[in-house]
Amino acid sequence: MTQTDFIPKPVSKTIESGTFTWSAPSNIALVKYWGKKAHQIPANPSVSFTLNACKTITSLSFQNKENHNDFSFDLLFEGKPKEDFRPKIEKFLQRIETYCPYLKQYHFTIDTQNTFPHSSGIASSASGMAALAMNVMSLEKELYPEITDDYFYRKASFLARLGSGSACRSIKGKVVVWGKHADIADSSDLFGVAFPAKIHPNFNNYQDTILLVDKGEKQVSSTVGHDLMNGHAYAEARFNQAQGNLSKLKNVLENGDIQSFMQIVESEALTLHAMMMASMPYFILMKPNTLEIINRIWEFRQQRNIPVCFTLDAGANVHVLYPESDKVEVLQFIQSELLGYCQNQQYICDEIGNGSLLINNE
Ligand code: PMV
Repeated sequence: MTQTDFIPKPVSKTIESGTFTWSAPSNIALVKYWGKKAHQIPANPSVSFTLNACKTITSLSFQNKENHNDFSFDLLFEGKPKEDFRPKIEKFLQRIETYCPYLKQYHFTIDTQNTFPHSSGIASSASGMAALAMNVMSLEKELYPEITDDYFYRKASFLARLGSGSACRSIKGKVVVWGKHADIADSSDLFGVAFPAKIHPNFNNYQDTILLVDKGEKQVSSTVGHDLMNGHAYAEARFNQAQGNLSKLKNVLENGDIQSFMQIVESEALTLHAMMMASMPYFILMKPNTLEIINRIWEFRQQRNIPVCFTLDAGANVHVLYPESDKVEVLQFIQSELLGYCQNQQYICDEIGNGSLLINNE
């Protein structure tokens, strides 16, 4: 599919008003997306676990308006006006306008809330943009009832990508690949696709306990970080490595080899942060407690022979990944040894989930 496949024919129908509500989860990358080309095209393919508990719930109400010249919307966060989000939403609407030419016909009220604490350092852009994209697609489905389910979800992922790259992996499926890769059927730089092969039962309900190490505002945004991969001394080697790691991880997800899983995932996390440290200007998003936690995880794994590993996103928080069958021991370890390294002892228990969900359609 190409971008033009997502441009609909002129709409013949108008709907007066309505409301949809969708939830969309966050996701955690196993092979990381870091570096992009124009129009949110990734420099390398990535793959993520879809999360379950960490999600954004967004309602989109729409009302037909007379003037069709401008975007018009009100923004609410947890029911209260939130003007800070306006530039981001405005930019998103501009980016998707070619693909959703009907948007200027309506006045929208967007009411959004997250299930995770606001300043947890968990990026809400992936779940937020995914939830908004699902709502836009529900409106599109009203206008074009003939669109297939497959098109609906692909286009939702395509639109979410234009809001925030990794958001395209928060639409549908437990494990999602984004970016063209020879080993993944139907993979695309334009949208995420559900992992096409059967996933080994070792990964059923895989756990992700998120340790909130630092809830402060990031010093360097991911937009700036991606940009710094342009002209980065190790960029080409990194992009090739990600291709190779995705091939390896594909096999691992099918054959259930958790030792190799841990090796690939931890290497990916540390390489992501190594890229940041080797950027010019350079920066560090890990905190001393991030490293303390990593060392404790390694010690515990060696001493107890329990397959627990970590990954990181673009921040100081640590995602602790482990099989459901080891949940009791690992949670005990986290509570007794790791919470002291978290800000206000905060952590979030999550696990693999299925993607976005329609909550309400009026
Ligand atoms: O979607 P963005 O632009 O916020 O970038 C996300 C980058 C990482 O979280 C570090 C990696 C990833 O693949 O999610």
